[in-house]
Amino acid sequence: MPRNLYFLLISNFIFFGACKEAPKQDTDSTAETAYYQEPFRPQFHFTPAEKWMNDPNGLVYYQGVYHLFYQYYPEDIVWGPMHWGHATSTDMLHWEHKPIALYPDEHGLIFSGSAVVDVNNTSGFGSPENPPLVAIYTYHDMEKEKLGNKDHQTQGIAYSLDNGESFIKYAGNPVILNGEFQDFRDPKVFWDNNTEQWVMALVAGDHLRLYKSDNLLEWTYMSEFGKDQGAHGGVWECPDLFELQVGDTDETKWVLLISINPGAPNGGSGTQYFVGDFDGTTFTSDQKVEKWLDWGTDNYAGVTYNNTPDGSRLFIGWMSNWAYARDTPTEVWRSAMTLPRHLSLDNIQGEYELLNYPIPGLDGLLTDEDTTMVSLPPGGEESIALEHDNQCELRFTTSARDLTLRFENDAGEHLLLELDAGQKLMMLNRSQSGLTDFQESFGTVQQMPIDNLPEGDVEVRILLDTSSVEVFLNEGQYVMTAQLFPIQAYSELVVTNTGTEKVRIPEFRIGGIIGAW
Ligand code: FRU
Repeated sequence: MPRNLYFLLISNFIFFGACKEAPKQDTDSTAETAYYQEPFRPQFHFTPAEKWMNDPNGLVYYQGVYHLFYQYYPEDIVWGPMHWGHATSTDMLHWEHKPIALYPDEHGLIFSGSAVVDVNNTSGFGSPENPPLVAIYTYHDMEKEKLGNKDHQTQGIAYSLDNGESFIKYAGNPVILNGEFQDFRDPKVFWDNNTEQWVMALVAGDHLRLYKSDNLLEWTYMSEFGKDQGAHGGVWECPDLFELQVGDTDETKWVLLISINPGAPNGGSGTQYFVGDFDGTTFTSDQKVEKWLDWGTDNYAGVTYNNTPDGSRLFIGWMSNWAYARDTPTEVWRSAMTLPRHLSLDNIQGEYELLNYPIPGLDGLLTDEDTTMVSLPPGGEESIALEHDNQCELRFTTSARDLTLRFENDAGEHLLLELDAGQKLMMLNRSQSGLTDFQESFGTVQQMPIDNLPEGDVEVRILLDTSSVEVFLNEGQYVMTAQLFPIQAYSELVVTNTGTEKVRIPEFRIGGIIGAW
């Protein structure tokens, strides 16, 4: 057999058969645990096989493949010199691990960024028949950072002619220099159909900067946004800018995502958004209030895919928070991505709202769905057995706004979700949910104001995956994502009517999710 083919078969076996093959482990405690069955290992969320991961990077679809690059440190389970890790998928749920895509070089570490398909070969890296996949990322030079001249973060590019299997760094890097901003990073590039040019969204500490290019190599500054708008409790990171249709009307608006750390409503890291307009040069928004994509503590640095097959806006976030990301109690790997989510924009009661909701493909992983009827007088409660080992989905529609859901296990741990009509809040209390003492703020009760939730029936959808919970109200209008570290699976769910009216849920659905790995 030719050596190359042999290697291909072996590597596919290792990466594709990820669920069964034990990787090299370096601690005794993990050596005995089956690969992907380690304590707290999510089963239908992406996690690196081992070591540290943070932001999703270079989200791009090309030739049937969804690429997920990510901030990766291959030597340890804490943050270190950044590489781009890589995984691919055809459905964004089953992932194949790939070799590291980008290594640090003489210009610095490889921080976050994006990837585009250069269809017209504007860069000249490929040909019209074989357009290059171009990655645009931030270089972070640690040595220069120490000297304090604000020239340590610059932007670089690399290209691939084999759909992301290998990358070549551009010889003319960096393509955008810096001498002005301490924080100057996380380029998100997209092709603007209206002006027929590349646009780059970049953040510089407290604001967004927009650049344009004809060829991805030479960039011209266009405009800035946000110094006096939105939340400013911390540094702006990981921008994304895209256009969405408003509901099913003819109207379109532009949405700007900005991750911010610290300064999120429930502490530490979070992602705010602005709805506005982009004229090809400048983004403007007359939004007066702060808006958050997700009110839970564990959805950060999320961005969307370029070049999706049907133009849908697909999002993945890093399911952690810089406040405690380094301290969570996993041993082989650290941190997961959120479920892939579909983003849409709607006008709800006169407010533009960005909705994020699991991609439809997730429904295909559901098994053993049971439907029960829940009927509760004021103060009444009902217990429902949970049989899916914390890999499950709950889904129901209700008009109740005074309701609690308490997930309990035999170890005396519980996760409490509360809807409170009086305060117009949803609360996620993980203070007793499992291990919490690795960091002091981890157990703080998280709050989500639901003041624009319409009256009447809304869907409540909850996904548990071993060490995370994702809660979607009204199909993604209000969302909370949080990590949890229960020492055993929750085996019982207690639903309580905390209001003064009878609660009747005719179809309370619970299903297991077959692990995607
Ligand atoms: C966001 C972030 C980015 C940066 C990367 C470094 O979590 O701080 O701004 O590029 O992580 O790993």
